[in-house]
Amino acid sequence: MSGTILVDQDLSLANTLGLPCRAERFAAPATSGSLRRLLCLAAEQDWPLTLLGGGSNLILPERLAGLVIQPALRHWWLEQQGNDVLVHIGAGVEWHSLVMALAGRGLWGTENLALIPGTCGAAPIQNIGAYGVELGEVLEAVQVLFVEDGRSAVLTPEACAFGYRDSIFKSELDGKVVITGLTLRLSRLASPRLAYGDLAQRVGAQPTPLEVAETICAIRREKLPDPAELGNAGSFFKNPIVERKQAEEMLSSWPDMPYFELTDGCIKLAAGWLIDRCGLKGWRSGHFGVHDRQALVLVHFGGGSSAELLAFADSVVEQVQARFGVVLEREPRLA
Ligand code: EPU
Repeated sequence: MSGTILVDQDLSLANTLGLPCRAERFAAPATSGSLRRLLCLAAEQDWPLTLLGGGSNLILPERLAGLVIQPALRHWWLEQQGNDVLVHIGAGVEWHSLVMALAGRGLWGTENLALIPGTCGAAPIQNIGAYGVELGEVLEAVQVLFVEDGRSAVLTPEACAFGYRDSIFKSELDGKVVITGLTLRLSRLASPRLAYGDLAQRVGAQPTPLEVAETICAIRREKLPDPAELGNAGSFFKNPIVERKQAEEMLSSWPDMPYFELTDGCIKLAAGWLIDRCGLKGWRSGHFGVHDRQALVLVHFGGGSSAELLAFADSVVEQVQARFGVVLEREPRLA
């Protein structure tokens, strides 16, 4: 039932890394009313609160005290506005299913973000992005409830302070709000975004959003492991951003190093390439490894713990730092 609290819940299947975890209490509210009641109860009882989406960007400990809430608001509907369509979405809707449904209706805007795991409510937290598009570009509003008193509010995209894999939900509002829903602005007018990699070569001259989305799925399946088969959290590290001077020095030693110039003059490097060039692609130690097709992804072969994963990741960071002088930052968050 929507607001029911389950005790001693196993969350090992609720995180895509497949880490063992038990929650002291767990609830999956399907309405904002039951979510608000749970927040009030947690505040009254002084229970520490953990929010769970699709568990695809999270490192869970073996035991979570207090209350884990996984919002299960699963409605979505469309609102026509000329050539634009506003999409109103509950936080518990699965992101990829929504993207495919929107692309199938001929709507442009989210097709490059196909096959990203997780729920819609988690999407703004790290401003999900892939193949030249970030969520912030199509977002109209984010609906939230404040943890402290259950008050509701609506945030504009500007208020969300989106950056590369970053938003206000990771800083000032971290732990203070629960995202209950999103509004996206999509378009009926053809607006393909095909500049990334060889995407343009892989679709027809006038692709539909569904063709682009299906091509993105095919590209991702070639490189990224399916969490249902091999535990992982997608990119484990962010692509590091360095000063132009440092990038130029690196390019003189490694002229084939991929890089991307940012509008502020800084340079974004490819963490996957740096890890790969340390000879770590396919490296395995204990229960964890570096994926053999995309070095940016750490994989869990089963039987490991979060402590072992963090030690494994530290060892990757140290090896990249020793060779390139660049410190990689972790992408998934610690619960
Ligand atoms: N590369 C290597 N070896 C590797 C991996 C990558 O040499 O093992 C090189 C590639 O050849 C390419 C460059 O590094 O020249 C960049 O690789 P890729 O295009 O695969 O993208 P990425 O930078 O590794 C980022 C996102 C992905 C997103 C892709 C496509 C981050 C941290 N990761 O990966 O996001 O799908 O671009 O846009 O920004 C995720 O966040 O979970 C994720 C998968």
